[in-house]
Amino acid sequence: MLKLQNVSVTFNANTVNERKALKNINLELENGDFVTVIGSNGSGKSTLMNAVCGSCNIDSGQIFVGDRNVTYAKEHKRARYIGRLFQDPLKGTAPNMTIEENLGLAYSRGKKRSLSIGISKKDLKLFREKLAELDIGLEDRMKIPVGLLSGGQRQALTLLMATIVTPQLLLLDEHTAALDPVTADKVMSITKKIVSENSITTLMITHNVSNALEYGNKTLVLSQGNILAYIEGEERNNMSLSKIMELYADSSGDIITDKMLF
Ligand SMILES: Nc1ncnc2c1ncn2[C@@H]1O[C@H](COP(=O)(O)OP(=O)(O)O)[C@@H](O)[C@H]1O
Ligand SMILES: [Mg+2]
Repeated sequence: MLKLQNVSVTFNANTVNERKALKNINLELENGDFVTVIGSNGSGKSTLMNAVCGSCNIDSGQIFVGDRNVTYAKEHKRARYIGRLFQDPLKGTAPNMTIEENLGLAYSRGKKRSLSIGISKKDLKLFREKLAELDIGLEDRMKIPVGLLSGGQRQALTLLMATIVTPQLLLLDEHTAALDPVTADKVMSITKKIVSENSITTLMITHNVSNALEYGNKTLVLSQGNILAYIEGEERNNMSLSKIMELYADSSGDIITDKMLF
C-alpha cells in the first residue's frame, strides 16, 4: 500500500549545516496497516511524512502509494488521496468558515463538483451523521464558524475532514500533542474508530511510547534518520516500555525523555 525504497533526505546539502534526516529508508505498509511511529526529537519522523506527502524533496529513492509511483508527484496532487493532520489544531480548518462549509470543502476533494454549487440536503444529512459519531456535540453547531471551537473539537473536525472522502493513506503527525490529556485521549479514540471502521492505512507519529504500543498493529522506531525497529505481531504483543528503552540503549545513544514514556 505504501512503499519506500532507499529513500534519503538531506537538508542544507554541502553546507556546514548539512543534515541527513532520512538515511536510505526501506519501509512497507500493507493495506489497512495502522503503524505508529516513535523516535526522539529530530529522528526524522516528520521528514518521513513530509517525504510521503510531497512537502519535502527526497535526494534519492522511490515512493509508491498503492500502484502509483508518487516520487515525482506534486504535493497538491498527492493530497487527493493522502489525508494529513498536524500537531497544530489551527492548521487543518478554515476559521471563518462554518463547520458545514469546512466539511463541504473536504467532501468536494477529488470530485469535479465545486463548493460554489452549494451543499445539498443529502450532504448536510451525511455531515450531521458523521459529526454525531464524533460524540462531541458538533452536529448541533454546524452553522458556527470553526474559529469558535476548542483545539480538541477542531482537531476532531480536521480528522473527519481528512477522512470524509476515505483517503488511501492517512498521516498523523503528533495530532494530539497540543491537547490536554483528557481531550487528547478523546481524539485518539475517535482516531482509532475512524481508522478501523474505514480500514484506512495509517501512519501515526506519537511522542508517547505507551500510545505507540497501544494503538495500531505495527510500530516503527526511528533513530537519527534510520529505522531502529519495525515491530509487529508476537514481538509487538510482548513489547514493553523497558524493551523499547533497551533498543535505544543498544543503538546510537539517542536519548529517551520522560515525555516519551508518560
Ligand atoms: N526544513 C528543514 N531544514 C533544515 N533541517 C531540517 C528541516 N526539517 C527538518 N530538519 C532537520 O532534520 C532532522 C529531522 O527532523 P524531523 O523530521 O522534523 O524530526 P522529528 O519529527 O523526528 O522530531 C532534524 O535534525 C531537523 O533539525
Ligand atoms: Mg516532528
